[in-house]
Amino acid sequence: MPTFNMANDKKIIEEVSYLRKEIQKHDRLYHTLDAPEITDADYDGLMLRLEDLETTYDLASSESPTQRVGSRPLPEFSQITHEISMLSLNKVFNEKDLIDFENRITKRLEDNTLLKFSCEPKVDGVAVSLLYRDGVLERAATRGDGVTGEDITHNVRTIRSIPLEILDAPENSLLEVRGEIFLGKPGFQKINERAEKEGSKVFVNPRNTAAGAIRQLDPRNTARIPLQMYCYSIGVVKNMDLPENLSDIFLVLDSLGLPVNPDRATGIGIEECFAYCLQLLEKRNALNYEIDGAVIKVNELATQKRLGVNARSPRWAMAYKFPAEEKSTVVLDVEFQVGRTGTITPVARLEPVFVGGVTVSNTTLHNMDEIDRLGVRIGDSVIVRRAGDVIPKIVRVLNPLGNKNPITIILPAMCPACNSPVEKDGEVLYRCTGGLVCPAQRKQSIKHYASRTAMDIEGLGDKLIEQLVDEELIESVVGIYKIDLDTLVNLDRMGKKSAENLLSAIEKSKSTSLARFLFALGIREVGEATALSLVNHYGSLDGIMSAKTSGLEKVADIGPIVAHHIRLFFLNNNNVEQIFELRSSGVSWPDVSVDRDLLALADQTFVLTGSMQLMSRREAKAELIKLGAKVAGSVSKNTDCVVAGPGAGSKLAKAQELGINVISEDEFVEMLAQLNNVQVRT
Ligand code: IVH
Repeated sequence: MPTFNMANDKKIIEEVSYLRKEIQKHDRLYHTLDAPEITDADYDGLMLRLEDLETTYDLASSESPTQRVGSRPLPEFSQITHEISMLSLNKVFNEKDLIDFENRITKRLEDNTLLKFSCEPKVDGVAVSLLYRDGVLERAATRGDGVTGEDITHNVRTIRSIPLEILDAPENSLLEVRGEIFLGKPGFQKINERAEKEGSKVFVNPRNTAAGAIRQLDPRNTARIPLQMYCYSIGVVKNMDLPENLSDIFLVLDSLGLPVNPDRATGIGIEECFAYCLQLLEKRNALNYEIDGAVIKVNELATQKRLGVNARSPRWAMAYKFPAEEKSTVVLDVEFQVGRTGTITPVARLEPVFVGGVTVSNTTLHNMDEIDRLGVRIGDSVIVRRAGDVIPKIVRVLNPLGNKNPITIILPAMCPACNSPVEKDGEVLYRCTGGLVCPAQRKQSIKHYASRTAMDIEGLGDKLIEQLVDEELIESVVGIYKIDLDTLVNLDRMGKKSAENLLSAIEKSKSTSLARFLFALGIREVGEATALSLVNHYGSLDGIMSAKTSGLEKVADIGPIVAHHIRLFFLNNNNVEQIFELRSSGVSWPDVSVDRDLLALADQTFVLTGSMQLMSRREAKAELIKLGAKVAGSVSKNTDCVVAGPGAGSKLAKAQELGINVISEDEFVEMLAQLNNVQVRT
């Protein structure tokens, strides 16, 4: 390290401090304000000079912009408890409900004076909390369930528009800011162009990409995604004087170098706020980031405090959600797909269109009735709608007369996969009569059998199954257990190692559970939950195979139609033979002898509501059924327990009204852990 004198020393420290401020300023100009003032090369020059000085004179510190990406991945996320809960928002979809929101507030305040509101875009990203102690970013956390979130400081530090240090913070001060981390539209496009170039998987939409990026254990992965943030509120504040109105707080946050949304406004009275919502909707497509509505908040903090909060959302704020996004496109073709059970489904191939955050290039038309209802023909311009995570759908045909060469969609008389006759099944469905002769059904049934939630045969993916069936190497699921190494290594793109791995995965999958096996058989209407109910009820495959329809109907969740399908399946000798062959190949499961009354949650009825963070709803349902419980869709006096996650609404209210036991997801998980340990089951 060079020796240096006091004067030199001071100069170096001043230069380091100057460079850090300069870099922070340019980060903000580039990443928040979209108004760079220097070239990338000049910016890199500043960064290199700073790095050089910090290493030469041993001046590196964690607040320096050179230290944004830490070097080591974390082993796991640690939990953080929010001192003030992070609430969510109530939502409305129309003007009337927005007016009602204002009326409720004025009534509660007993004051008819028009209120001032802060109007903000509802950014579609991930809610986070940032904590600055004495001006230094100490901690960043996800919202989690509102009370406990995950520590994501290492990742948030990589976001260039978030300052690692805020300007002129008073001593002993604490400032918690909250906001939305998101991926802008240009950033999304950039990373997808890169992914395409690198031949890696493209990202589906900006929101999911942001959510995934922020939950990386290795911050270097987060740093590859150009995330941004807009702050929308404050949390814990100590030793800092902040203004009394939210709109003024935004100005202060901005002056501290924190990113705030430039598209915010204020409105006096709800009418002005509604006008803001409409204007925002108008410019939605032109914005550089995705939004799904507007948020209207009482501007004065003291009034917010007077109004207080409900169970999980403030009374002083409301989300005005935009209608689902709609775009027009053209129906290029309609193909008929054959499902696992032979159902023929028309699928429209569309001119690709970006709607609701994803590119849509095909969509199901469900059945011929839907085609008639829409009056859609090949070549028609149509409106496609996609809301949230809902499957995109065609909602109507645009200007039918504009289609100069319309082609009417006709249901094929013969199955497109096997040429067997197609026949009507029920009110609207059509089905291929080919059964196992039909390769489409064979492929689908093998894919289903091998899938993760069924027999879980790792390495036996869709492409390989298609190849095996096309080359007539396997005909049905039984064939899986007859493949040998020679056959596999002779396949295209299959090395010896992968072939061996696949064979050992097939071997491993033979030891399974009865519920998985039953589900894997692909009996119509028998999903994972129904399979578990059957196992819980009968305890053995023989019991299920010989059950009469009347007996099956007594099983939890099984009605006459499902009972009929199950009975029909086991009356078919082909199926019985297949089961015999599968068992002869070594597929087996531990004996389940069940006395239903001994199951820990025997005959208790649960309702799941709100979102779940720790497990999927499907998993929660399966766990409950395994323990003997029934899972109902609505709350009634017969409900024993409601599991309420964030966002729970009317079901939670009803449970509270009826005095039914309500537990959080955390408590639910705890309960499962306990019950699974003490469960009486042999
Ligand atoms: S305010 C107490 N403002 O929308 C109010 N939320 O449930 C808390 N969001 O989790 C939220 N933009 O992540 C607020 N301008 C904005 C927002 C916003 C997006 C998200 C936020 C929250 C969800 C609503």
